[in-house]
Amino acid sequence: VSLKAYNTFGIDAKAQSFCNITSINVLADVLKKHRQEALFILGGGSNMLLTKDIDALVLHINLRGIEVVRETQNTVIVKAMAGENWHNFVLWCLKHNYGGIENLSLIPGNIGTAPIQNIGAYGVELKDVFVSCEAMNIENQTIDSFTKEDCHFAYRESIFKQDLKGKYIITSVQIELTKNNHQLNTGYGAIQTELKNRRIETPTIQDISEAIIAIRQSKLPDPKKIGNCGSFFKNPIITLDSFLELESNFPDVPSYKVSDTHIKVPAGWLIEKAGFKGKRFNDHGVHSNQALVLVNYGNASGKEIFELAQLIQKTIKRLFDIKIETEVNII
Ligand code: EPU
Repeated sequence: VSLKAYNTFGIDAKAQSFCNITSINVLADVLKKHRQEALFILGGGSNMLLTKDIDALVLHINLRGIEVVRETQNTVIVKAMAGENWHNFVLWCLKHNYGGIENLSLIPGNIGTAPIQNIGAYGVELKDVFVSCEAMNIENQTIDSFTKEDCHFAYRESIFKQDLKGKYIITSVQIELTKNNHQLNTGYGAIQTELKNRRIETPTIQDISEAIIAIRQSKLPDPKKIGNCGSFFKNPIITLDSFLELESNFPDVPSYKVSDTHIKVPAGWLIEKAGFKGKRFNDHGVHSNQALVLVNYGNASGKEIFELAQLIQKTIKRLFDIKIETEVNII
């Protein structure tokens, strides 16, 4: 079975076998039946680079459904099943005028993978609205519930990438949203500029979503047209001392303060400075509007993209003495 249509990089890797999971019961049955076999869990396929064929049974998590589970005068808790597309879920919330995730508009991927790397954009992270998630224990098929604290969220991190890696399959997520008096996050310069261009002074959550969709579309390639996984690398967090040294050599380096001792530097800026922005090799390269995004123009192999990523990492290390880590999972 080709996985080309199931990963947003559009890599033509093959799966040994493939199973579409549409209910919790089917998931439990399949896990029981294939207990001894190698398994590979596939959600939206929007954060993985397949560098080889998958010698395993691929489980495509296709659980669907969105429902309100609790409501107060001002807030609502919404539960979404793991196989729902993230952006469709954002649009559903906006249609009901539920606020809190408008800044996370147009992020690729599914509900079930959102907590794994604590998706984030434009000043908001999933953890800001997250209440809990349910996940199936792969070994004994029980469904366990995880609170926000249980998940150990951090920048593009959670317990599902660390201690619980490979042990659970997330089946649903619950988040808390506002019904009125929405807390808008318009601090990002790019959002302010976009709202100004649109002559919007008192934005609604729908306005913010539309502005962010426009910003993302101007910088990030549409995976339906050009294969990609969004940001390929994490933004490195470096010590204040290293930052001051970097800044003395490159006074124009952008930065965000993480703490009194640590600074986050945009990897996209480093990669652009290193001369990679817009570079095309065979059928792969670095996106011309955002250097943090690696792209597949059609028939690139995962191996080629991986080798380009390594070249970029090595060059950044040599030029700036900074180690950048991949955000995308390399398979
Ligand atoms: N920059 C450059 N050259 C580039 C790209 C960026 O100089 O080619 C500079 C920009 O000028 C800006 C800074 O780097 O000063 C930051 O750029 P941007 O606002 O585009 O954000 P980012 O740090 O590159 C992060 C997230 C994105 C998220 C945006 C907006 C990570 C790894 N990436 O990108 O997330 O959408 O902020 O909040 O944290 C994703 O995870 O797939 C993703 C797209």
